[in-house]
Amino acid sequence: MLKVPDERDQMLVAKVYKAQQQHVFAFWEELDEEQRRELLDQLAGFDFQQISSLAELVDAPAEPPVAIAPLPTERPDAARRAELEALGWEALKAGKVACLVVAGGQGTRLGWVGPKGTYPIGPVSGKSLFQLFAEQLRATGERAGRPLPWYVLTSRLNREATERAFAEAAYYGLDPAQVTFLTQSDLPNTDPEGKLLMATKSEVAASPNGHGGTFSALVDSDALDTLTAAGVEHLFYFQVDNPLCRVADPVFLGAHIAGGAEASTKVVRKEDPDEKIGLVVLRDGKAGVVEYSEMSAEEQQQRDPDGQLTFRGGNTAIHVFSLAFLQRLAEGSFKLHYHLARKKVPYVDAEGNHVDPDEPNGCKFETFIFEVLGEAQAHVALEVERADEFEPLKNSSGPYSPETVKAALSDLAKRWLEAAGAKVEAERYEVSPRTALDAAELASKLADLDLTVTDGSLSV
Ligand code: UTP
Repeated sequence: MLKVPDERDQMLVAKVYKAQQQHVFAFWEELDEEQRRELLDQLAGFDFQQISSLAELVDAPAEPPVAIAPLPTERPDAARRAELEALGWEALKAGKVACLVVAGGQGTRLGWVGPKGTYPIGPVSGKSLFQLFAEQLRATGERAGRPLPWYVLTSRLNREATERAFAEAAYYGLDPAQVTFLTQSDLPNTDPEGKLLMATKSEVAASPNGHGGTFSALVDSDALDTLTAAGVEHLFYFQVDNPLCRVADPVFLGAHIAGGAEASTKVVRKEDPDEKIGLVVLRDGKAGVVEYSEMSAEEQQQRDPDGQLTFRGGNTAIHVFSLAFLQRLAEGSFKLHYHLARKKVPYVDAEGNHVDPDEPNGCKFETFIFEVLGEAQAHVALEVERADEFEPLKNSSGPYSPETVKAALSDLAKRWLEAAGAKVEAERYEVSPRTALDAAELASKLADLDLTVTDGSLSV
């Protein structure tokens, strides 16, 4: 066994050998003191029992099919929307709402260097995702008469870069006191036999533990207690990749409150049976999300008598969670499940060569936040227009790429302008959240806006 001077380190080394992961020390002799310390510190953070139980997922028999049923969704008419909106504003004005964006992902499909939130997505302005969200938060806070707390979930891989981006952008116009960064945990990546993969000679390959990491990050930090003590009752949860998300949407907050819900989800209608979108359904009688891959071909194609798909509540990953609900889960025995994803994981082989695999070679383990939905005593699913609220940035080209997301933002701005009665022809449109948060606000301000088109672009 490898010998190290410190007794605690020696115990750790013994643990690594017992778990039959001693190959992580293969390059020990080549490492300098600092690298050795880093490797030992990283290993000290691992739970080797958990790693070996995760390895069992690789050969686990396929899950039995889930029994699913459609989940009723709400589509309020204009009068009801106005009532819900008023209820939402009441909560915002009373300081009962905080927001949380999950931004800890690796964004591998997009291939952007840096946190995904720094991607320039404004179709005219080139404002980043973070900037657009921050402007919404600021405008909503101004209307509510108090700043909205904003939690930003990061991971080990992007915490520093995210904090730097906020600092360099002067917090995108927000008060730094409003913003709290959380860091989700990492889980090591293994080969299919459960052996840890080495990212370098002194570092085990590891990746963030999925957006379910939000839950443990909230629990492990003092965030839940801090928010509860501040009188916050509802947490508005959204993903960093969807700039069409109406942050702290008062209508959605109102629907959550009016429904006495512990958790709520915005859904968009799935119309193409082949679309690979998670669906909000009843799983064993409780609200939950079913992945496309978990559904049978019949379920994917099944239609109601009116011709609509029976399972059509596409998950936008926009939720409201009640703080008391999250506290209850935190205090009880609730645990999210780990899911295996086979991915391409660059690694250092036994000879010390860096390998960039062409095919999935590694196992990553993730948890999903939507598993908490099944624990909610009441859940509201609010159906919204996809074109108005959902176009996430996932890929570098094709569907859900910068091109489609910019087009969706521009089209939305154009619809708001047209609804307000503006007759302007442009190639690209953009409405700043500081100008208007919705079509009605834009209409009320239209007379004061400069509608000059410059180089084919209209930006107000
Ligand atoms: P995705 O599952 O789309 O992953 O995340 P991603 O990291 O953005 O992109 P790929 O799959 O590597 O291409 C959906 C949302 O969940 C967040 C992401 O930041 C994004 O807002 N997320 C994902 C986390 O915060 N942590 C994670 O571990 C995973």
